[in-house]
Amino acid sequence: MADAPQSEPPPGEGTDIRLQRLLPAGEDLTPEQLVEQLGLWERRSPPPPRPRVMLNMISTVDGRATIGGRSGTISDAADRALFHALRSPADAVLVGAGTVRTERYGRIIRDEARRRERVRRGLAPEPIACVVSGRLALGEDIPLLQCPGARVVVLTASAASLPATAAEVDYIRSAGPQLDLATALAELAERFGVASVLCEGGPHLARQLLGAGLLDELFLSVAPLLAGGEPSGGEALRILAGGELDEPAQLELLGTLRSGSTLFLRYGLSAR
Ligand SMILES: NC(=O)c1ccc[n+]([C@@H]2O[C@H](COP(=O)([O-])OP(=O)(O)OC[C@H]3O[C@@H](n4cnc5c(N)ncnc54)[C@H](OP(=O)(O)O)[C@@H]3O)[C@@H](O)[C@H]2O)c1
Repeated sequence: MADAPQSEPPPGEGTDIRLQRLLPAGEDLTPEQLVEQLGLWERRSPPPPRPRVMLNMISTVDGRATIGGRSGTISDAADRALFHALRSPADAVLVGAGTVRTERYGRIIRDEARRRERVRRGLAPEPIACVVSGRLALGEDIPLLQCPGARVVVLTASAASLPATAAEVDYIRSAGPQLDLATALAELAERFGVASVLCEGGPHLARQLLGAGLLDELFLSVAPLLAGGEPSGGEALRILAGGELDEPAQLELLGTLRSGSTLFLRYGLSAR
C-alpha cells in the first residue's frame, strides 16, 4: 500500500516536482510557487467573521476517493507535494475523526524548513489540527495526539474530553445536541485567530461543510486510475458522502495543472 498523502514524503521526494500550468497557461511551477501565486499566505484585514475554507481531496477518474480503504493508494508524489505545500500557509487543518483514525494523522508539519518559513512569515510553526468528532473515539495511539507541542482543537457537541495527551488539546463545543459547523468555524476565528482553513476531508465532513455553505474552494486531484466499485458500498467512497444535496453545487473552474497524467483542478464555489 502506498503511503497515505498525509504522511511526510520520503526524504528527497517532491523536491523536483514541477506542475505544468494548463489554465491559466504559463510556465511550470513548484507546489510552493503555486501556493505563493494563489496568495494563500495573505490574510484579509480585518479578518472575515468566518475563515476561508479550502477543501483538498483526491479522486480516481471514476470518482473513487479510496482504494483499499485509504486515499494514499491513489495518491502520487506530485499529489503528496501539493498536499504538503497547501498545508504550509494554513492557520488550521480541519479533518473528520474518521480520516484521523484511518489515515493515522500525525504532526501537521514536520519539515523544519517549512516550520521556519511559517515563523518567518509571522505564523505559528504549524497549523492547528482541528478534528471534528461526535464520539471522541480518538485513541491515544493516534500519532497526532502523541506529539508534544502539537496544537489540536476538537470540534464537538459532546461534553466529554479526551484523556490527557502529549498534544495540547482545546475544545469548541456546540450548545445543542448536534455540532453546528458554522458557529464552530466562527469560534475558531474568534478564539484562535484562524483566518484560513484547509479541510482534508473526509467525505462525510466535506458533504456537511458543502451543505452548510461553508466551502469556498475545492482543490481536486484527479488520479489517472479507474477502480470500479459501487458508490453505495462502504469500500467505494466518493469525495462526498451522505445525503444528496437539494441542488447540485455549482463550481467555477479557476485553475488546472498537470503532472504526468495526474490533473490538479481548483474550483471556486459559486454562491447559491
Ligand atoms: N480521497 C480523499 O481525498 C480523502 C480525503 C480524506 C479521507 N479520505 C478517506 O475517507 C475515509 C473516511 O471517510 P469518512 O467520511 O468516514 O471520514 P470523516 O468525514 O473524516 O469522518 C467522519 C467522522 O467525523 C466525525 N464527524 C463528522 N461530522 C460530524 C458532525 N457533524 N458532528 C460530530 N462529528 C462529526 C464523526 O466522528 P466520530 O465517529 O468520532 O463521532 C464521524 O464518524 C477514509 O478511508 C479516508 O482514507 C479520502
